[in-house]
Amino acid sequence: MNLPSLQVGHKTARYCIVQGGMSVRIALHRLAAAVAECGGVGTIGGMGIPPGELRREIRAAKALTDGVVGVNLMYAGYLFDRLLDVCIEERVDYVAIGAGFARGPFKKLHEAGIPGFCIISSVKAARIVARTPGVAGVVVESGQAGGHLGPEDPEISTWELFPPVRAALREAGFAGPIIAAGGLLTRQDVLRALAMGADGVQMGIRFAMTEESAASAEMKARWLAATGSQVTDWSPTGYKSRAIVPHIPFEALPRTRENGGTYSCTNCLKHCLHRDEGRSHCIWNALSNAQKGRVENGLIFCGGRVGEIHDIVPVAEVFRRLTTPSADEAAAD
Ligand SMILES: Cc1cc2nc3c(=O)[nH]c(=O)nc-3n(C[C@H](O)[C@H](O)[C@H](O)COP(=O)(O)O)c2cc1C
Repeated sequence: MNLPSLQVGHKTARYCIVQGGMSVRIALHRLAAAVAECGGVGTIGGMGIPPGELRREIRAAKALTDGVVGVNLMYAGYLFDRLLDVCIEERVDYVAIGAGFARGPFKKLHEAGIPGFCIISSVKAARIVARTPGVAGVVVESGQAGGHLGPEDPEISTWELFPPVRAALREAGFAGPIIAAGGLLTRQDVLRALAMGADGVQMGIRFAMTEESAASAEMKARWLAATGSQVTDWSPTGYKSRAIVPHIPFEALPRTRENGGTYSCTNCLKHCLHRDEGRSHCIWNALSNAQKGRVENGLIFCGGRVGEIHDIVPVAEVFRRLTTPSADEAAAD
């Protein structure tokens, strides 16, 4: 079976494969453009970089491809509004918004003619976004995903979470694409998600572990060596998050000067448990350390099935594996 295409606003991706946005500086122009060139939907992680850098990343991606390239933003981010304005000014192909929700950004995107995708993890959220003008697509992300997690129970799989959330969206009249995300790695996973009614899949860690991802060699080595993942409640955002096992101890994660550490606070979040209450570590420095290779003081987010990925390959090879029918499939045709 050929994988179906995916309509994103007025553009069509040849394959229904979305590369999830990954901040801080994991998914930049090289990764997003490579995915778009292979026929998927490429996404620049817009959280944790200043507006000027995001603008340069978008332009650099567009110089490399005419495929579908968008940006992922976290509503919880302090610079959210300014980063959203950059996306609109640079006419990205779509914007995916997670880690918090408000109607305003989707209205703004709609008025600008840019599709806004909302990342959700519950039936309750489905009922709200289905009635929000300007939401053009929805990503249903289970707790098997990497990074910050939306679901109350992070152990519920995509296979359990997706059907009721999709049903709630369709019952409420939502007609746009609905994408499944969290713990999807293989062609079999894609086919299973499509059979469940998904219009596409979003993948994170598989694309983070490619040659084009901007993660440091040290971070990629930690992913390759990871025996699995764990859910922590360490993040100063207040969300749970999924990171590699074995991980560095919480005490090794960076603190800012205000809290007895050596780093300066970049005010990356609207509400930060570290800055406001001194209860946690500095998330920006922790993620940035890992991305730059200082893994001993870095937070290494990962998807739930990181332990099943044993190679760092070019994005084109990921697409070859996802789009080539297995011998069993070919025999059944
Ligand atoms: C290292 C890493 C960083 C991530 N950062 C973000 C982010 O900034 N914003 C976001 O919405 N999702 C983020 N995610 C989630 C991915 O976009 C994707 O939806 C998720 O990882 C899918 O699960 P998978 O990794 O099992 O494929 C991140 C995931 C990883 C692995």
